[in-house]
Amino acid sequence: MKRVAVFTSGGDAPGMNACIRAVVRGGLHYGLEMFGIIRGYNGMIKGDIIPLNSQSVSNIVQRGGTILKSARSKEFMTPEGRKKGYDQLKAHGIDGLIAIGGNGTFTGAEIFFNEFQIPTVGAPGTIDNDLYGTDYTIGFDTAVNTALDAIDKIRDTADSHDRIFFIEVMGRDSGYIAMQSGISGGAESILIPEERQTVEDVVSVLKAGFDRKKSSSIVIVAEGDEEGHAAEVAEKIKATIDVPVDIRVTNLGHIQRGGSPTAYDRILSSRLGLGALEGLLNGQKNVMAGIVNDELIYTPFHDTITKKKLINSDLLRMASILR
Ligand code: F6P
Repeated sequence: MKRVAVFTSGGDAPGMNACIRAVVRGGLHYGLEMFGIIRGYNGMIKGDIIPLNSQSVSNIVQRGGTILKSARSKEFMTPEGRKKGYDQLKAHGIDGLIAIGGNGTFTGAEIFFNEFQIPTVGAPGTIDNDLYGTDYTIGFDTAVNTALDAIDKIRDTADSHDRIFFIEVMGRDSGYIAMQSGISGGAESILIPEERQTVEDVVSVLKAGFDRKKSSSIVIVAEGDEEGHAAEVAEKIKATIDVPVDIRVTNLGHIQRGGSPTAYDRILSSRLGLGALEGLLNGQKNVMAGIVNDELIYTPFHDTITKKKLINSDLLRMASILR
């Protein structure tokens, strides 16, 4: 293997740059020629492929976003699009790929590998932490800390005005961000897709709080929760609860995707980037590098996207005792 290209795809995540840096510096260390594909699969299709040297990845370990840019490519979902991508890789002499992204990225990578057999190793980059085969994904820790900072601030104003706040956090179909930011922010209630809680459950928690003279409460709602978005949940609670309440709703949105990665994310991203690169050199293909119980492992793309990553429900049990 001589020429390896790295790309980022799907929703960006803080730490992607640290991962790119590790892939590139790792590749150069082993004597490879390194390339970057701009805007994920769209860039592959267009042949937007640039050489990367050590200097190209200087001063990025601390930066959020991705210097390679990102996209969700519709064209790569078609056989014609993937053939164009393959032709561009061949034209540039690329014989190995490192894909940094989440579910959609690895779905595309698996199909592409099965069609054209270009060895590809993934690094899990998504704030959602929803990939089987790694305890944590790149960007998750930063996103949780960003959400937590916002929750702490909202708690100040909630307390001053005796209000109930419904705060929506990202995560797509996963409740990881909600669970960790909710527990660390001392939320009264945390709604996640993995553990059903009804409106009545939330009402009884809030009422128990009033009985204990709590004047403000925080309810964290994962965006994928079955009861709906935070605004809908708030409306349902208002219609159900039989005591006067002053309710506000905040959707934290894309601030959760930005910002300088935490130390944890920088180290995780570096380990996963170098681990993906070394795996590729050692013959790994069609797999994602992950860290489970502090050990580097490789999991087939197929499993990372089809197997459900379980949530530790004991943490939720703890939250319900401590609230
Ligand atoms: O997968 C990361 C994520 O931020 C999800 O949490 C969210 O549902 C989605 O991406 C938002 O995507 P977009 O930036 O395309 O609106």
